[in-house]
Amino acid sequence: MLRTHNCGELRINDVGKKVTLAGWVDKIRDLGGIRFLILKDRYGYIQVVPGDNEKVAETLRKLKPEYVIRVSGTVRKRPDEAVRTDIPTGQVEVVADEIEILSEAQTPPIYTDRDDDTSEELRLKYRYLDLRKPRMQHNIIMRHRIVQTIREYLNKNGFLEIETPMLMKSTPEGARDFIVPSRLRPGKFYALPQSPQLLKQILMIAGFDRYYQIARCFRDEDLRADRQPEFSQIDIEMSFVERDDVIEMAEGLVKYVLEKVFNRKLDKQFKRLTYEEAMEKYGTDKPLTHFGMELQELEELFYDTPVNFIKAVLEKGGTIKGFVVPRDMSSFTRKRIDSYTKMVQELGLGGLIWVKNVDEPRSSIDRISPGISSKIVEHMKIPKGGGALIAAGEREVLNEALGILRVKVAQDMGMIDADELDLLWIIDFPMFEWDDEENRLVARHHPFTMPHPEDMKAYPDDPLKIRSLAYDLVMNGNEIAGGSIRIHSTELQRWVFEKIGITENEANEKFGFLLEAMRYGVPPHGGIAFGLDRFVMILLKEKSIREVMAFPKTTTGADLMMGAPSNVPDEMLKELKIRVMENTREV
Ligand code: AMO
Repeated sequence: MLRTHNCGELRINDVGKKVTLAGWVDKIRDLGGIRFLILKDRYGYIQVVPGDNEKVAETLRKLKPEYVIRVSGTVRKRPDEAVRTDIPTGQVEVVADEIEILSEAQTPPIYTDRDDDTSEELRLKYRYLDLRKPRMQHNIIMRHRIVQTIREYLNKNGFLEIETPMLMKSTPEGARDFIVPSRLRPGKFYALPQSPQLLKQILMIAGFDRYYQIARCFRDEDLRADRQPEFSQIDIEMSFVERDDVIEMAEGLVKYVLEKVFNRKLDKQFKRLTYEEAMEKYGTDKPLTHFGMELQELEELFYDTPVNFIKAVLEKGGTIKGFVVPRDMSSFTRKRIDSYTKMVQELGLGGLIWVKNVDEPRSSIDRISPGISSKIVEHMKIPKGGGALIAAGEREVLNEALGILRVKVAQDMGMIDADELDLLWIIDFPMFEWDDEENRLVARHHPFTMPHPEDMKAYPDDPLKIRSLAYDLVMNGNEIAGGSIRIHSTELQRWVFEKIGITENEANEKFGFLLEAMRYGVPPHGGIAFGLDRFVMILLKEKSIREVMAFPKTTTGADLMMGAPSNVPDEMLKELKIRVMENTREV
C-alpha cells in the first residue's frame, strides 16, 4: 500500500504516530510565509504542514490543486486556536518530512470543491472532476450503501439474485427499444431490455420462486429530470403470492432502507388509495398528500346557480370542484390570483373562482350569486383566515388542472416539507386505457398484468371498466415503483392480447416463448420494480436522478464525456451489412 492511513481517519489519539498519506491537493494556503495544504480523498480532509525541511518546502512550492501526492510525516495536535470543529480530523495535522508528487494536474475547468452554477454540460463533460465534489462523493457513496442494504434485505428474505441478458428481444414496457445489430446474423437485431419483465416471469415458471436483480433497463423515450435512457431497477418477482404479499414485502424493503441507512423508523403501514380516489382527491396518480388540501366536490352547491359559466359546464356534464387554502388567504393579491388563473387556463379550464374567509366570507362570484361564499365556507369547512380556489370543467381536465394548482399553491405557501416521507400505494388501476393516437386499447401497466377477477365477471364486455391487480408506490410525489400480479393462464393472456389489438400471429412472434412456457406449469406469481435512481434521488433530497448516477446522459441522450453516440467506421457497418441513409448522419 502507498499509504498507512486515509485522509479522514486521523484523530487526537493518533498524535505522535508516523504516517503516510496519499490523495489530492484540495487547497494550498500561505500563512505568514509558510505554505501548507489540505489533502483530500473520499474519506475526508487533513491539513499537512511542512516540517523543518527545505526539500519539503520546495516541493510544496511546486504543488497546485488536484495534484496527487504522497506525504510521510508525524501526526501533531493543532494549536488550540487552529482547531477546526467542522471536519473530523480538525484537531490534528500532519507535519511532513517528505512529499512526493505522484501525478500533476492542470487547472481544472470546473470547481471540484463546491457546487456553483456551472452548466450541466460542463459538469458532465468533466464528470470525473464533478464527481470529486463533496456532494457528489456523498451521493455516490450513499447510493452504494442503499443498494447494499437492499441486497441485504432481499437476501435475508430468501430472494435469489439472478442476472438476465442485455441482448434480448423486444419487451413490452411501451417505450421505443434500443437495438443492436447482429454480425453473425446480418439483418437481425437484438433489443436491449426495457426491463427484465418476461424473463423474471420465466424464472418463476422455472421454479426459482423469489428472484431479484439490480437490473439495467434501456428505454428510448423523451428524457426528463426523473428519466434516463439507461437506468436501474430493483427488479423483484415472487411465486405463490397475492397482491398484498408483494406490497408488504416492498414496504418492508423501504422501511428497512430508511431504518438502516437513514435511522428513520416507520411503524405505520403506508396509506393506500385507489387510482380513482387519487384522481378525484389529488388529480394525479402520484400525489403529494402530506399537506392535505384535497379536491372537494361542490356540485350540490351549484345545482340552481345563477352563474352562467358554471351552469353551462354542469349542463355539458362537467362538474365543479375546489380545494381549501388553509391559511394566509389575505396574501392572495389580485396579481397572484391572476397568475394562478392563467396557469389553469393553460391547463384547459375557463377560469378560477376564489373564496376568502378573512373578515367575512367573500368570493369572486358574490355579485352574481349573493350568499354563495358563506355556503362554500361552511361546506368546505374553510378555517378563519383561509380560503379556497374553485373551478368548473370537464371532470378529467378539472382534476388534473386543480391537482397541479394545488401543489403550486402549497409550494408558494411553503407547505411542502422536504423532510416529510410522503409514501403511499396506488392500487386498482384501470387494466386498459384508450390510446387516441393508435386508436386502440392499450394495457395501462403491461399486458401481463392480471385483470381484477371481480371485474372480469361483472363487465366482460366493457374492458374500460376492468381494474387490474397493479400497484404503484409513490414517494414524495414521484412514482418510485410499479408492479402487478401476473396472468398465469395462456387463455387469459390471449384474451388480453386480443383486447389490445395484438393478433395471434403478433403475439406468437413477440411473446411466443412466454406463451409456450405457460403451457408447462405456471405458479401464480407477481412482482414489482423500483426505479433505483428515483428512490435514491428522493432519499438524498436531490431534484434530478442525474445527481445520483455516476455517468448520466444529457436530455438529448448524449454522453458528453465519452462523446457517445458516435459514428462507427464504415468497415464495421459493412461487416454488419448496414448502410446509413444518405444525409442522415450528423457531422
Ligand atoms: P415500470 O415501467 O413502471 O415497470 O418501471 C418501474 C420503475 O422504474 C422507474 N423508471 C425509470 N427510472 C428512470 N428512468 C426511466 N426512463 C424510467 N422508467 C421507469 C420508475 C418506475 O416506477 N417490468 C415492470 C415492473 C413490474 O411489473 O414488475 C416495469 O418495468 O420508478
